[in-house]
Amino acid sequence: MKHLTILPLMCLLMSFVGYTQNPDLSNKTKESTSSKKVDSLMSLMTLKEKAGQMLNIGLPAILAGGYWDKKEKAVFDETKFQQLIVDDAVGSIHNTPGYPAEREDWYQIIKKIQDSAMKKTRLGIPVLYGIDNIHGANYVNGSILFPHQIAVAATWNTGLSKKVGEITSYESRAASLPWNFNPNADVAINPLWGRIAESFGEDPYLISEMTTAYMNGSQQKGLENSTSTAVCLKHFIGYGAGKNGKDRANALIPENWLRQYFLPPFEKAINNGAMGVMISSNAVNGIPCHINQYYITDILKGELGFKGVVISDFSDIDFLVDAHLSAKDKREATKMAVNAGLDLIMNPFNADIVEIIVDLVEKGEIPMSRIDDAVSRVLRLKFYLNLFNAPYHKPKNYPDFGSEKHIDANYKTATEAITLLKNKNEILPLSNNKKVLVAGYSANSINVLNGAWSRSFLGQDTTYNDPNKLTILEAIKKQIGVNNVEFVEGTDYLEDINSDKAVAKAKKADYIIVCVGEIPATEKPSDINELELPKVQQELIKKLSKTKKPIILVMIQGRPRIIREIEPLADAVIMGYLPGEEGGRAIADVIYGNVNPSGKLPYTYPKFSGNTLTYYHKKTDIRDVNWGFDGFYPQYEFGFGLSYTTYEYSNLKMSADSLKSAEELKISVDVKNTGSREGKEIIEVYIKDLVATVSPDSKKLVRFDKITFMPGEIKTVHFIINSDDLASIGIDNKWITEEGEFELQVGGNPQSLLKKVFYFKM
Ligand code: BGC
Repeated sequence: MKHLTILPLMCLLMSFVGYTQNPDLSNKTKESTSSKKVDSLMSLMTLKEKAGQMLNIGLPAILAGGYWDKKEKAVFDETKFQQLIVDDAVGSIHNTPGYPAEREDWYQIIKKIQDSAMKKTRLGIPVLYGIDNIHGANYVNGSILFPHQIAVAATWNTGLSKKVGEITSYESRAASLPWNFNPNADVAINPLWGRIAESFGEDPYLISEMTTAYMNGSQQKGLENSTSTAVCLKHFIGYGAGKNGKDRANALIPENWLRQYFLPPFEKAINNGAMGVMISSNAVNGIPCHINQYYITDILKGELGFKGVVISDFSDIDFLVDAHLSAKDKREATKMAVNAGLDLIMNPFNADIVEIIVDLVEKGEIPMSRIDDAVSRVLRLKFYLNLFNAPYHKPKNYPDFGSEKHIDANYKTATEAITLLKNKNEILPLSNNKKVLVAGYSANSINVLNGAWSRSFLGQDTTYNDPNKLTILEAIKKQIGVNNVEFVEGTDYLEDINSDKAVAKAKKADYIIVCVGEIPATEKPSDINELELPKVQQELIKKLSKTKKPIILVMIQGRPRIIREIEPLADAVIMGYLPGEEGGRAIADVIYGNVNPSGKLPYTYPKFSGNTLTYYHKKTDIRDVNWGFDGFYPQYEFGFGLSYTTYEYSNLKMSADSLKSAEELKISVDVKNTGSREGKEIIEVYIKDLVATVSPDSKKLVRFDKITFMPGEIKTVHFIINSDDLASIGIDNKWITEEGEFELQVGGNPQSLLKKVFYFKM
């Protein structure tokens, strides 16, 4: 039966070839052309074939050996392969072969899968391969390992985020991987959360700008282009707001917060062409996101008009049964999730979901219309990505893979991310001819710089490190010569190794550079119970400080670990985030002044674990024991970062002192580089609603820019805002701008913003 029908079907499918070849086709024409193709393909499909398109398995499920076995070579298990790829005709695959495959390896893997899917199944539908390109095409050996997203956010440079997206896509496609489970649009409001490094931080506006820029870089040439990947925004929604800060923890998000803080980053990216969204494994207000029809169908597909694929997170149907206890078995969980609006189910280990879906539809428990909606979304994305014509690509067609050009972009991103948080008596930059002791857990580790999702899931395996990349220690040695550098690790992540030896050596040094950090981890392994930097790392600094030698504290960490006790002991503090494989070089270049730091914090750095507010909070949140409203005292504020030069802000002007709906307010400010070094300054624009029915936030970021200034140079910087920028979610959970006074705040340092009040009239 299968073979009798294959020829005519192949002829029909051949007519899909070339649908995107004409670059002049408008998006609308493309959309209607592909929807016709989707419709005609769907008219040929059986229910089982449709259910197959809704399944995403993990690659190891078709490889020889156990799913979690560490492998050195991908060898297919032909029986499993035949079952899943040919008989079940699975629609989508994710994950790695268990090791960071070379491009040529990936090519062979994808070619075999696509050739079988397209030649041996009845309908010849290509597979949609998704991969976690969290900071570069990190599962392709030799690719660029960029700084993690939190560091990209710290650059406040959307051009760099776009570049990261563009290069990541190119290098992913060089391995025939067309769908990227990134960027992360989560709003990270709980500093305990272990995946802050993967996010763009706490501010909805900065996240929106950075997410969309990354996506524009990834998809800029059109999805059909062989250098583009489709993004998959994640995680919808509230993953970064878990109440206890743990992975996949329940978040409490009232409707007005959902709309004001959590939806905007998704909304902006969707309006600009995002075609994938991954649902978050957590529950919000006790309702697992995977079964939340209101979130997925009403809001995401309805209000936000999302036309792409909604994919589950890893094994989340099982999670509904085993962890959320929301369904009694897999059948019930599948029914709830698909009816809620899920299109593609990441069911890594096998194809049991296919039979379950078929049964649920046959018994009338899932309507056929829901299946058709899901399948048409999956097929549409496959057409958009031109997979029917070009299911894989020869690695040699990607000559820029891992090139110097790409390495330069990586280095530039790392340097612009590094955030100077303290520089007492301008101790930095250091001069080359002084003796230094380098110490600390993160000083001599490429893995700590790269964090998780670096060739392996947790990024802790040293076997895959590129020997050409420099740790912080190696980069310092290169800068000032080996004879000027002593190294004693002092501590591990949690244990003292030889801190006494470090103290002994410190006595002979001019400066001590202590590099603290977090162990590479993500998801469950990244959970912590204590936000403080591990005690032993703090003890090292306390001991070293007794030598009275100046201390430069370098922090390599995904989230802001509390350093209240040791911060005063350091003369300089540098935040490196997780800066990626050029991070060692970039940090040494900042310490020695080859680079003038220009990053600013994309989150509030707390000082106390009991005072972890975001910069946007209510006045009542900061009422202190003295009855005053001065209870917001973070270690460092959102938007803070120093430079080796200084800037002066003056002449804040507005085009009017009142604004009406649909009008614009033009703003200008003079910024002068008052120091003697060229620098890049981030200019931040905030709005504070002075009175609103729903208690207004302390302020909200509405614009920013990053501009280069020569020494002594003055520039007038312009911004335009409108009444939408003043809006907040009102008492009826809808956006509103109430008439009244607003304060404009502009500057480069959150502690010294210039302010002006204006009036908003309806
Ligand atoms: C993570 C996702 C990831 C997925 C696929 C999950 O465990 O939460 O962020 O995209 O795995 O690897």
